[in-house]
Amino acid sequence: MADTTLTGPAREAPDAVPQFPMPRESRCPFDPPPALKELQEQAPLTRVRLWDGSEPWLVTRYAEQRALLGDERVSADTDQPGYPTKASPEAGEGKLSFIMMDDPEHARLRRMVTAPFAVKKVEALRPAVQRIVDGLIDDMLAGPAPVDLVDVFALPIPSLVICELLGVPYEEHEFFQENTKTMVRTTATPEERGAASREVAGYLAGLLGKRIAEPKDDLLSSIAARITAGELTHQQATEMALLLLIAGHETTANMIALGTLALLRHPDQLALLRETDDPKLVASAVEELLRYLHITHLGRRRAVTEDIEIGGQVIKAGEGVIMVNEIGNRDPEVFADPDRLDLTRDARRHVAFGFGVHQCLGQPLARMELQVVYGTLYKRIPTLKLACALEDIRFKTDAFIYGVHELPVSW
Ligand code: HEM
Repeated sequence: MADTTLTGPAREAPDAVPQFPMPRESRCPFDPPPALKELQEQAPLTRVRLWDGSEPWLVTRYAEQRALLGDERVSADTDQPGYPTKASPEAGEGKLSFIMMDDPEHARLRRMVTAPFAVKKVEALRPAVQRIVDGLIDDMLAGPAPVDLVDVFALPIPSLVICELLGVPYEEHEFFQENTKTMVRTTATPEERGAASREVAGYLAGLLGKRIAEPKDDLLSSIAARITAGELTHQQATEMALLLLIAGHETTANMIALGTLALLRHPDQLALLRETDDPKLVASAVEELLRYLHITHLGRRRAVTEDIEIGGQVIKAGEGVIMVNEIGNRDPEVFADPDRLDLTRDARRHVAFGFGVHQCLGQPLARMELQVVYGTLYKRIPTLKLACALEDIRFKTDAFIYGVHELPVSW
C-alpha cells in the first residue's frame, strides 16, 4: 500500500521533502540513485523539491508513469502553469519544437518529419550504417591504442547518420557537436546555453534558406518545402531541425559508449554478444541495455491541466509531474530482478524511449544503429578492454543525457 509519509503531512516539514535530482552511488555508475529506489518502494508518487523550491510530484513506478504519459490532461508545454523547471538553476529555458508542445500542434509538426524514421526506411540504411561502423573500426585497428572510444567511434556514428539524413555537411561536425554538448550540459550558464543554441540555430536557418532556393534529396529540403508552402515559419522550421540534430546524435552516442562500458564490466554478457550470430539476441541485448542504462535520466517533465487521481493521490491542475523513467525501468513489478543486466531477458516493455504521443520519433533509427554497433564491435575487436580504472572515468551526471565524457580503450 502507498506510504504517504513523504507526501501528505510530511509536506509541512520542509526537510522531509527530498531534493531532486539525487546523487548516484559512485561505485554503481549504471544504477539509478539509491534514494530513488527507496522512494519507489515507499509509494508510486512522491513530492520532491527542485532547485527553485518548487515541489512537483515525482512518479517512480512504471504503471503510473505510463498512465500519466498517455493521459491527455498531462501537458508537455513548458509554458503551462506548474511545469517543473529545468534540472538546475543554470540550465536556462527555451523551447525545442514539438517535443515541448501538445496536440494538435504537436501532431501536426511531428507528422511532417515521421516518414524518414519509419522502420522500412531505416532498414534501408542498415548496409550504409554497417559500412560506417566497419570503416571506423578499421581506422581504430590501423592506429595506435589506447583511443577515446567516444571520440573515434561512439559520437561519429550517429552524427554521420543524422547529418546524412538531414543534409547537414558532416565536415562541420566539430562546430555543432561542441555547441550541442553545451546545450545538454546542466551546469552551463543560461548565457552559454543560449549562445550555443543560437549558433546552431543560425547555422541551420542558413542551410534551410539554401534548400528553399535549391532543394536536395534530404530532410532539410522537405522541411524547407513546408516554409515555402506556408505551413511552417522559418523559425518553426529551424527549431524542428535543431531538435532532430540534437536528439539524433547525443542520445545514441551515449548509449554506444555507456553500453560498451557496462558490457566490459559484465564480461559474461559481453561474451554472449561476441559469440552470437543470432540477430534476435543482438536486438534483445539492445533493448536490455536501453532498459538498464536509461540515459535520459532526469525524467519526462510535464504539467497537469486538470485534477488527476492516481496512485492514492490527487494531482491538482497546475501542478508539475516528473516521470523518472530510469527507475520505472527498474520496477520489480514489471522486470524480475531489475538490477541485473541480462541480455537474454525480454525487455521490450521498457520506457527508455518514453511513452505516449511524445514517444521517441527516432527509435527505429536508434535501435538499428545500436544493433549494428553491438553486433559488430566486440566481434571485430574481441580483446577490447578499458584502458583506465573505472574510478577515473568521468560520468555525465551534469548533463540531461547520461553517459561518459571519455572512454579510453585498448585491445
Ligand atoms: C538511444 C537513443 C535515444 C534515446 C534513449 C531517446 C530517448 C527519447 C525519449 C525518452 C523521448 C521522449 C521525450 C519526452 O517524452 O519528453 C524522445 C523523444 C524524441 N526523440 Fe529520441 N531518443 C533516442 C534517439 C533518437 C534519435 C536517433 C532521433 C532522431 C532524430 C530522436 C528523435 C526524437 C524526437 C524528435 C523526439 C520528440 C518526439 C515528440 O515529442 O513527439 N531520438 N527520445
